[in-house]
Amino acid sequence: MVIKQQDSLKIFAPATVANVNCGFDALGFALEGIGDEMVFRKTTQLGIQITAITGATLPMNAKDNVAGIAANAMLKGIDADFGIAMEIHKKIRPSSGIGSSAASAAGAVFGINQFLENSLDHTSLTQYAMEGEAFASGNNHADNVAPCLYGGITLITSYTPLHIVSLPTPDQVYVGILHPHIKIATKEARAILPEKIPLTAAIKQAQYLSGFVTALYQNDKTLFERSINDALVTPYRKQLIPHFDVIQTIARSNECFAFGISGSGPSLFAFAHQKEHITQYLNAAQSFFTSKNLKVDAYSSKINSKGCYIL
Ligand code: HSE
Repeated sequence: MVIKQQDSLKIFAPATVANVNCGFDALGFALEGIGDEMVFRKTTQLGIQITAITGATLPMNAKDNVAGIAANAMLKGIDADFGIAMEIHKKIRPSSGIGSSAASAAGAVFGINQFLENSLDHTSLTQYAMEGEAFASGNNHADNVAPCLYGGITLITSYTPLHIVSLPTPDQVYVGILHPHIKIATKEARAILPEKIPLTAAIKQAQYLSGFVTALYQNDKTLFERSINDALVTPYRKQLIPHFDVIQTIARSNECFAFGISGSGPSLFAFAHQKEHITQYLNAAQSFFTSKNLKVDAYSSKINSKGCYIL
């Protein structure tokens, strides 16, 4: 598709769940239905102008905005002889743990790539998007931007050089997302993690992640269910999320086979094999949070295999 100078382009950039318990900074998947919308127009003025932001209070100056930073990095990287005017319509709440900054950064580079006839591959786009993500979280992780761009479940096998694998997506997995209305900044959630971990925890985590990947390739439901655990990060971060253990019990008692923190929180993800189990779990967990006077948003979704797309 060739986009003319005067044409504007609207895209959808999905929310994402990073870490998935067993793959800190390595695993992530994209969600259906929840995501930001962005509108792009090519300009003769060089650089990025952000012309509108709705749904959140975020910097309009491109140099201070994750989408602007990723987009400017890309324009510089390709030595662009044009600029881009960009509107950002946030539907994902910032600091919610489902990849709000990643959607802005990934959406920005995906949108610009449409004006280049999609000439940049997903790895290059991820690299540029990571510059925006690094500004937001103080760290160069790609486990939200990669699934946002690729769709499905992605595994980052290496950061230097950046290498990303799209893993097989299991059928019959339904996702429940709960977003309790507290804010957790990724920077702060990273700051509480220890610099060193015991060897036993490292071994367990290697077994969980290798089990997860093997289960997807071998379509092994039992191994998949057993592998979505976390010996590294959740033990430290769960204290940031009110009533984490109670919600985990509610998830288990409603047939959810996996439960954990989405990215750096506060959102929580759960997996079940049947949609009605996710609905029952979300209803029960919402009632519990409401009884504690804590507002919560709940979404049910499947794993989105498309990533960003044109609307
Ligand atoms: N891997 C990152 C973290 C994801 O957990 O800090 C943040 O969304």
